[in-house]
Amino acid sequence: MRKDIEKILVSEEELDEITTRIASEISRDYEGKRLLLLCILKGSVVFMGDLMKKISIPVEIDFMKVSSYGAGTKSSGTVNIVFDLYRNDLPDIDIVIIEDIIDSGRTLSYLTTYLKNKGARSVKIATVLDKPSRRDPAVTLTPDYTGKVIPDEFVVGYGLDYDEKYRALPY
Ligand code: IMP
Ligand code: MG
Repeated sequence: MRKDIEKILVSEEELDEITTRIASEISRDYEGKRLLLLCILKGSVVFMGDLMKKISIPVEIDFMKVSSYGAGTKSSGTVNIVFDLYRNDLPDIDIVIIEDIIDSGRTLSYLTTYLKNKGARSVKIATVLDKPSRRDPAVTLTPDYTGKVIPDEFVVGYGLDYDEKYRALPY
């Protein structure tokens, strides 16, 4: 599997530093609030697991699954909710969406609006990677917590896949 990888863009050590930093930022910002980490399946599971272990305040977790990509490397542009969030306590909840990467921004733009319409008290975004050069000009979206800004390259590993492969790479 590793022979397919052209270069390492973000090392295990850097990912560890990223999760430590974002966990302390979230712990500081959500002190005294009812925090829900909302993991977007499947790509964000590794980040979610690393991050939640380092958050020092009480935290709840939940999951949604959305799809905007098929087997290719380009976004299809439409967002489908494959696995929804079913809770009746959203007005009391501050959500941080846990995402692996922001590309066009369409997925998270759609999801943020969707969760606010469902009544969530607040919705913010934490992402490991951001490719701002790829943003859909029609989408104004800036993540609240960003691990690393990267150039326009297709990346795999640390949860991210190409056609369901490479998710388990630690970098
Ligand atoms: P967006 O709606 O275009 O921002 O797409 C975000 C989603 O596309 C992410 O959650 C990933 O699942 C996928 N994605 C975007 N860029 C990459 C990449 O470089 N590698 C793997 N998946 C990616
Ligand atoms: Mg994804």
